[in-house]
Amino acid sequence: MTATIVIVAGIFLAEYVARIWAAPESARYAGMTDTAARLRWACSISGLIGLLAVVPAFAITTGSLRANSDASVIFCILWILKLGIHAPAMATLGRVIANERATLSSVLIIFIIILVSAATATHMFERHVQPEQFGSIPAALWWGVVTLTTTGYGDVIPHTVGGKMIGSVVMVCGILVLALMTGILATGFSEEERRREYLRVWDQVTKVPMVTELGTVTLSEIVGKLRVRHYPPRIVVVRRDEPGDAMFFISEGEVEVRLPRDSVKLGQGGFFGEMALLDRLPRSATIVTTQPTTLLVLYASDFYAIASHIPSLVAAVEKEARRRRSENDDASKGAP
Ligand code: CMP
Repeated sequence: MTATIVIVAGIFLAEYVARIWAAPESARYAGMTDTAARLRWACSISGLIGLLAVVPAFAITTGSLRANSDASVIFCILWILKLGIHAPAMATLGRVIANERATLSSVLIIFIIILVSAATATHMFERHVQPEQFGSIPAALWWGVVTLTTTGYGDVIPHTVGGKMIGSVVMVCGILVLALMTGILATGFSEEERRREYLRVWDQVTKVPMVTELGTVTLSEIVGKLRVRHYPPRIVVVRRDEPGDAMFFISEGEVEVRLPRDSVKLGQGGFFGEMALLDRLPRSATIVTTQPTTLLVLYASDFYAIASHIPSLVAAVEKEARRRRSENDDASKGAP
């Protein structure tokens, strides 16, 4: 146990020193001197937790803290907290709670109203039968929380008919409140993910001039329909003769278009996969990434949906598809 604590605290100490050292690089402390930035970070919540996480190693090695004392257990909790602070999921959860705070607090108020009313009513019915468990409203609150959260330990149960009736209502309300809470958080998470995807797409779209030239209003419409996909080298994105369900814009990297007779390279700003959507025919070529590549995917249903809204984009895509088709026809005619 002692050795483990010292090793873990040693790792955290190294991380703490590295973070202090790198603090001036953070955009949050832009414009500050190196020392001021480091001091600011050291005084931040993350800095203070980081410091507290390394304290036990010194305390244990100097013998002022026993390895399995209550204090060392608290430090274990701190370590978990420290891991949580840097986990992206915690940041997302924080943003979801901040975004949904108004709705969440309304549900919380409903929860408190039901809880206090139920505890008060059950106290009225049960106080003479079970004075220890329901003798006061605060005592009855424990039963209320256990029932309303649908935990149901069963350590305290109402004995009177009135108490049981209130218990039944509280159980149903508990399910409703939990369902509301779950719904709000689930919607919040999916909204947050949608927003992040939108920003990711926006970031990549700026590298495809053909799309950025469309103007801000049209651009914001198309950004909502694109999906970012990252591919390592030598991955087949599209296979010849397979049905086409999407077209792709290249925002980073390069792909090789493997045609029956030759091959062509397409780089940043280019696009492919449009012919199968326009002609409603199978893919005319196999397309493989030649380096790490980021593609913006426009699914067929969205392509057809924007065709009427953004004719300039579809016209540009059609023009290039015509050129490619005639190039391919010429190549196949010229072939022996
Ligand atoms: P699609 O047929 O859907 O799938 C293969 C894609 O390769 C095709 O759409 C075009 O986007 C692309 N492609 C076909 N021929 C050429 C060419 N001559 N030059 C560049 N790209 C091409």
